[in-house]
This record gives sequence, structure tokens and C-alpha cells, in this order.
Amino acid sequence: MTATVLAMPGDEDLATGLRQRLRCAGDVVGLHRFPDEEVRVTVPAALDGRHVAVVARLDRPDGRLVPALLAAAAARDVGARRVGLVAPYLPYMRQDHAFQPGQAVSAHVVARVLRDAFDWLVTVDPHLHRIRRLEDVFVGPCRTVHAGPLLARWIADHVARPVVVGPDEESEQWVADVARRVGAPHVVLRKTRRGDRDVEVSVPGLDVAGGRTPVLVDDIVSTARTMSAAVRHLRRAGFPPPACVAVHGIFAGDAYETLLAAGAGAVVTTDTVRHGTNEIPVAPLLAEAVSSLLAG
Ligand code: R5P
Repeated sequence: MTATVLAMPGDEDLATGLRQRLRCAGDVVGLHRFPDEEVRVTVPAALDGRHVAVVARLDRPDGRLVPALLAAAAARDVGARRVGLVAPYLPYMRQDHAFQPGQAVSAHVVARVLRDAFDWLVTVDPHLHRIRRLEDVFVGPCRTVHAGPLLARWIADHVARPVVVGPDEESEQWVADVARRVGAPHVVLRKTRRGDRDVEVSVPGLDVAGGRTPVLVDDIVSTARTMSAAVRHLRRAGFPPPACVAVHGIFAGDAYETLLAAGAGAVVTTDTVRHGTNEIPVAPLLAEAVSSLLAG
């Protein structure tokens, strides 16, 4: 089935990558922001009977979710047969539990809102911790793209004698996989988070890492306090500046400067979130996933 790929403004690069690989047509969603910050969304009128994929980066989600939801509704209003979402970063997944009575479990709420608006979803390494699979929150056709192989290729091409380091126990799953692909050993640090910007890590035995260049691998860099604490420990232990490689480089506020000041070497991310550190494009993997969904 051929699709029409609609880019949210600012996400044309990803949409172009998808369109080229899927060999299909596309356009950009029109967005007018009113003085009160509400938006008017306009999609192309010629979507009758089409299968539409809306491409939307959803980091900083509070200003981006509503336009994407409106684009889906508008596409249906002009006759689109099915409307899917390609959101390389799936927001709000970290709040997956009510730690205090009254807290919203945003992972479930946001996934439900997306499910109501879209027929299917493609995303890259959603932060799933207590929730096991994407299907457990987005109850419908969906594909999770794993960036691990791309991170591994970057490390293999750029770092001689690496040791792959995970900043916390949660990262063990993808750190072990990346290390295996690179053919390098891995270690996992222990993290204690006391607040949004207050993180401590401790370093277990680093014997396997001797004489190697550490490469910190994480799914998300948000405040960069986790990576910065890990970098400082490794530097204190006498290692060269660690490379920092992440799937989603959110870099909130002064995060990037904090990480550099901690003593990081190269800082590299995929382009699921726009940032100056983007070096690893995910469009080829997104296109494969969309194509398999369309075929299904
Ligand atoms: C947490 O479980 C994630 O895998 C990341 O380690 C975390 O989101 C990083 O956050 P920050 O950059 O704010 O320390």
C-alpha cells in the first residue's frame, strides 16, 4: 500500500528520509500559532482514501502533541483511510507508576490519547521500565525500532579498544547488546537519583576496562546528570575522556554544557531529538518499520 508522509513543521528531514526509502509522496502540515499559543493545523486536501503517516518529533511534548493530534483528525476529515504516527521519541514514558497517591501515570494516559488519534505507531526505543512492551500501553498495531545496532556501528567505527559502560542497572539490557555487537566488554554502574538534577553513581570493579576507552551508552540524556556523574567517576578512576552515546539526546537546559564540563569526550546521539550532537540517522530503520506495518 502506498502512503503519504506528512511532516510536522521542523521534522521535514526525517519525513524526507522516510519518503525516499518508501518511494511515496508527502507534504508538510501547515501550522499557525495564534497569539494565545493555540494552533490551527492544515493538512493537504488530497488525502481521500490515502494511508497517511504523520512524522512528529515529540520531545518537549506539551507544545507538539496537540498539533500532531489535530493533524491526525484533519487527515481523517479529508478522507484518509488510515493515519499512523511516526514518533521517534515517545514522550512521558518515564512516569510509568504512581509513586504517591494522586500522581498521573502519564505513560498510560499519553499512550491512550495517541491510540485514540492514530491507527498505528512507530517509535524508537521507548523508555519502558516497569511496562514490558510498547503493546502494553499502545494497544494497537505498533513497532519498536531498536537503535542499538546503529550505536554499535558508530562505536566500532570511531573508538579503538572500547569498553561499553551503562550508567545504571536499567541500561544493562541495551548496553550488553551493544557491547556484544561491538565485540567489547561491558560494565554497568549503580545509580542513586535523589532528585531531577541530583544523581550519584558508584563504580563496581572496572578490571575488564583497563587500557580501554570507556563509551557510556544510555537511552535518554535529559539533564545529563546521570552521564555527567558517570563521566566524573571514570575520569577520577584514571580513564581517558569517555565517549557518550545516547539514543535520545534531549539535553534539557544546560545539560550539554554540564556534560562537557564533567570531562566527556565525543558526545553523539541519534536524530530522534534534534540536537547538535546528532550523528546517527534513524530514518532507514523507521522506514523499514513503517513498511512492515503497511504490508501487514
Ligand atoms: C533512566 O532510567 C534513563 O535510562 C536515563 O538514565 C535517564 O533518563 C537520564 O536522565 P538524566 O539525563 O536527567 O540524568
